Amino acid sequence: MKSLYSVFAVSVLALSAFSQNRSVPVYKDASKPIEERVEDALSRMTVEEKVGLLHAQSKFCSRGVQRLGIPELWTTDGPHGIRPEVLWDEWEQAGWGNDSCVAFPALTCLAATWDPEMALLYGTSIGEEARYREKDVLLGPGVNIYRTPLNGRNFEYMGEDPYLAGKMVVPYIKGVQSNGVATCVKHYALNNHEVNRHTTNVAVDDRTLYEIYLPAFKAAVVDGGTWSIMGAYNLYKDQHACHNKYLLNDILKGEWGFDGAVISDWGGTHDTDEAIANGLDLEFGSWTNGLSNGRSNAYDNYYLADPYLARIKDGKVGTTELDDKARRVLRLIFRTAMSADKPFGSLCSDEHYDAARKIGDAGIVLLRNEGQLLPIPNQGKGRILVVGENAIKMMTVGGGSSSLKVQHEVLPYDGICEMAESMGWTVDYARGYVGDVTGAYNGVTTGQDLSESRSASELIDEAVEKAKKADYVIFVGGLNKSKRQDCEDSDRESLELPYGQNAVIEALAAANKNLIVVNVSGNAVAMPWVKKVPAIVQAWFLGSEAGNSIADVLFGKVNPSGKLPFTFPVRLDDVGAHATNSYLGIKRDKENVWDNTYGEGILVGYRWHDTKKIAPLFAFGHGLSYTTFDYGKLRADKQRMGDTDEITLTVPVTNSGKVAGAEIVQLYISDPKCSVMRPAKELKGFAKVFLQPGETREVSFTVNKDALCYFDADNHMWVAEPGKFVAVAASASDAPRSSVEFNFE
Ligand code: BGC
Repeated sequence: MKSLYSVFAVSVLALSAFSQNRSVPVYKDASKPIEERVEDALSRMTVEEKVGLLHAQSKFCSRGVQRLGIPELWTTDGPHGIRPEVLWDEWEQAGWGNDSCVAFPALTCLAATWDPEMALLYGTSIGEEARYREKDVLLGPGVNIYRTPLNGRNFEYMGEDPYLAGKMVVPYIKGVQSNGVATCVKHYALNNHEVNRHTTNVAVDDRTLYEIYLPAFKAAVVDGGTWSIMGAYNLYKDQHACHNKYLLNDILKGEWGFDGAVISDWGGTHDTDEAIANGLDLEFGSWTNGLSNGRSNAYDNYYLADPYLARIKDGKVGTTELDDKARRVLRLIFRTAMSADKPFGSLCSDEHYDAARKIGDAGIVLLRNEGQLLPIPNQGKGRILVVGENAIKMMTVGGGSSSLKVQHEVLPYDGICEMAESMGWTVDYARGYVGDVTGAYNGVTTGQDLSESRSASELIDEAVEKAKKADYVIFVGGLNKSKRQDCEDSDRESLELPYGQNAVIEALAAANKNLIVVNVSGNAVAMPWVKKVPAIVQAWFLGSEAGNSIADVLFGKVNPSGKLPFTFPVRLDDVGAHATNSYLGIKRDKENVWDNTYGEGILVGYRWHDTKKIAPLFAFGHGLSYTTFDYGKLRADKQRMGDTDEITLTVPVTNSGKVAGAEIVQLYISDPKCSVMRPAKELKGFAKVFLQPGETREVSFTVNKDALCYFDADNHMWVAEPGKFVAVAASASDAPRSSVEFNFE
């Protein structure tokens, strides 16, 4: 007995001596400040290990430091759901059975809620899905400004206004990052169309850059504290955005003090020397066919891999940049993969479906509602006809890197049927037109059979016959996620609805006066039939809960409150980029570079329409409700505002209708007399206010000098010129309700 005891005692002693020798190093001690951990880790690393941190080792992951137990960094698309797993070196599916997700509404829909609380809910929910799937970096959200309705990727962005996008991106970031998952805000910067996306060299003056294209990114960095940012594919000032001295060193890391990591877009890196010198920290996707393209290992041949190491070894570059880059990547790892209080996350939870539906409900925009055709009454005793391919087509597969593999997706037709039938309606369907019957992306297939052999006129005839007998006709059409629609790596070819949908809508309008058009898209479309259709709904790509959100609004379970985050023009030539003939660049002689000077300058979106007095089809900020809102007089708490003052502008808003609803009150400011050209007005505040019938609330906005400034490019500073300013409370950019003047001095 005695000898047994002593053996035990000896081993306990040995164990504690062992653990004392192996005390936790500072970099692994999560109780220590991140900067101490970063410096400690850096001090233990070889040059090879530091370089090893700076480039991918597979399609979506980069190396850690195996010897030190510093984990790999796993990235994922983004931005509407967590992308399914692909093979190590291929875009094809890995074939996992546990990587289905919830698809949240596309970011245009989120922007259309004009509600930062929705952005927080979105970010928190998608962040939880990313965390559960063990991802460290979510590749999104995107905040490139909507410059042309042809841009195939507008659905992944937050509209045409830098202020709105800036206010919406911040809570999204905070929600995601509260899960120990970094956002990677993209695509920085000036990536405003997809055609020639790798070879377009954008030229904008500094005023346009600072007033229009940078503010949402700045908000993401300064107010949102994003831990990473993605460089864009295009060039600016003849340098690719992923290694661009002006955008990365001077502005992002210099002026804004960004301490996170710059990640290249996949295949956006083109030059080792520029990548070393001009602020790129982490390179992805340079050779997208992985191991087959390279001497021994493609990843070692990346621009920031062996070629970088060789330059250091040859003494061509020092290690100052290397330490800075490694520090930033380590910081990203410590903030995510090695964070002390990393939560566990959750996937496909009821809460996430609820969030998706809530955001969809809040983002759907009621564009037109003549004679209060909508909502469809609760007690139905007749027939509803649903027409259109988009009523039955899954929209979560396709569109490029944002394509998903969802656990489920409620189709518009199914959502409408379920709600309508529960209210006593009989629902029928007619195809109306054939769009794109395929449904596959990188090996994920919808499994839907949408094949159709009847001719276009047969389909229209069937729809018209059925429409004549229906009490209501709901046409669900728009764009889809196929090439040259709302899809990455291509732009649309026109503003028109594709697949002959205009003819179907015209025919239905002639057959039945109770026609509702539901447009599913991430972009504006032309509506030559607008006056003939009493009710029009902008429904976006709504993700997993699409059909339920659409039904919620059509049947009045939800009173619509979304407002457009971009202008619907009547025709393409009414858009600044097209009116100035500068949508795409001009090819340089003997070079594969397209020089693209943005001809409309700061006059993007409603700024163009307002200033040039071109009436839109539907204005930025437009969106109706099933109730009405009256605005009282806008008043200012002072008439004179000094340099360091704030001014509070207050407007009473009353729900003057019969049902509860929410209004998004917009504050625009204009500077009628200025030494430089200014847009007619600019958005400087917004608030969503919920009101019961008859209820009035005061809505207040407090602004300071920042709301009055333009960017003085010559002196590189923001300037507010003394004089008169006008504040306007509006329900849309083309619907001013009350205004007040004040002086800045
Ligand atoms: C896209 C990015 C995306 C990346 C990874 C690129 O083609 O532009 O937005 O995050 O691929 O899939």
